[in-house]
Amino acid sequence: MLRITVIPLAIFLMCGANAHANILLTELNPPYTKNELITIKKYLFSNISTKNNIFIKKNRSKTMYSLPGAVIASPSNFDTGFSMDYQIHWTRDAAISMNEVAYLYAHGTIEEKLKLKPYLINYINFEKIIQKNAIQAGSTALGEPKYNLDGSVWLDKWARPQNDGPALRALTLLFIAHSFLKEHQDNYVKMSLMPMIKLDLDYINTNWNKATYDLWEELNDREHFFTKIVQRKSLLEGSQFFKQLNNKKLADQYKQTANIITKSLERHWNEGRGYYVETIKHQHLKGGGMDSSILLGLIYGEVNDLNDPFALDNDKVISSIYFIRDGFKHLYKINIGHARHPLIGRYPNDIYDGNLFTYGNPWNLTTHLLAQYYYSLANILETKGLIHINQNNIYFFKKLDHRLKEGVIRKTSQSRLFNKIISSLVRLGDESLEMAKRYSVCYKDGTCNHLSEQVDRKSGRQVSAKDLTWGYATLLTAMQARDRLSNVK
Ligand code: NOJ
Ligand code: NOJ
Repeated sequence: MLRITVIPLAIFLMCGANAHANILLTELNPPYTKNELITIKKYLFSNISTKNNIFIKKNRSKTMYSLPGAVIASPSNFDTGFSMDYQIHWTRDAAISMNEVAYLYAHGTIEEKLKLKPYLINYINFEKIIQKNAIQAGSTALGEPKYNLDGSVWLDKWARPQNDGPALRALTLLFIAHSFLKEHQDNYVKMSLMPMIKLDLDYINTNWNKATYDLWEELNDREHFFTKIVQRKSLLEGSQFFKQLNNKKLADQYKQTANIITKSLERHWNEGRGYYVETIKHQHLKGGGMDSSILLGLIYGEVNDLNDPFALDNDKVISSIYFIRDGFKHLYKINIGHARHPLIGRYPNDIYDGNLFTYGNPWNLTTHLLAQYYYSLANILETKGLIHINQNNIYFFKKLDHRLKEGVIRKTSQSRLFNKIISSLVRLGDESLEMAKRYSVCYKDGTCNHLSEQVDRKSGRQVSAKDLTWGYATLLTAMQARDRLSNVK
């Protein structure tokens, strides 16, 4: 621990008592360089279908061509010697990945926007088709999790419904809608986006407390932390959106349901364990108890309200993250030697390895999002200028510095200690990303930093689906959370 905190402390001593996090960032080498991130973006975009990037998929008897807007979860399928078919458009994976594209659009230059816009329009058009097909296909309706690349519903036996999908899609569509409204494309937003958003939100409004499979597609239950927290966020943002469009009735309805979901989510707190649990009734089954889906839910379900009970600096949230990280650190052999910043997986007794179902592994996307959590927490604390250490979160902070005690640390009066904590969080984020990067691989064509869905817990080899779209998206969102820190004043 000392090794890590000494350097930033020295920087702060040199810079004086009022140093900001941005000074720290310029002193630290980012885990990915600008050029490396350009490559990562390329990997993400190559999994998104456009009119110039058509996926041709051979399936026993027939050949299928992708429609623009289809997002493959990964290029791996039976044809590539893999045991599963990931050349499928999952509502969840696609929404999360396209949310990143929407972020790049929102923050892009005029030239970048020109290039990115067709991706957004394609996605919207593709989702419009699959919403219609899903509703026609039967009782699962918008909870259908998977689609073929031509937009048809993937009909074989599967874990359905998965009701996080419509919420994540609504969030991405809302994000795009706000960008377009800023550009005065009100008509397009009202005619094209609004009806799609309303379909998803109405579905959630009616179905949020019905049984659904979780994001890992394994456990059917009425209470999933991840599913509910992203549903809540979509209703809250939807409520704002419809208010803006003068539909007060709908805005109120969504808000009301969101408030009920907040109460329902609070029931996932397990006092004796010290963390939020994924389900209430199945805590000993698969990912029903301790699960990185809590981390994912907190990140993807974060609302713009520093007093929200699920804000990333809430003491129960911090405690949950502590237990999630700790739950994995002794689980995988490759974590030996870096228990401070372990690679983390889905849940402890996972057995999905993408192939034989022999043992579970750490995942890149969960590890990236743990890094994102550290950066985002640093950002919130820096903004508030205040750190409350109490009996719920003390374990987390003691990992940063074992001398820390319960109490309040203020940026104004204890800037040295305050800055030290912030810099430790940034270092932790960096080390988590670096650790995942350490196992990345180069391909025969000379391209490097490739990541698969999982990292073998014994050998450190990249395993399961190759070049997972969602995995690259999380790497970019984590690095963007890091970048945002330099803007905190
Ligand atoms: C079983 C896994 O546990 C689940 O998470 C996965 O989505 C499916 N197989 C398909 O890949
Ligand atoms: C397995 C994961 O459990 C699930 O969340 C994901 O949607 C699929 N793989 C596709 O990436």
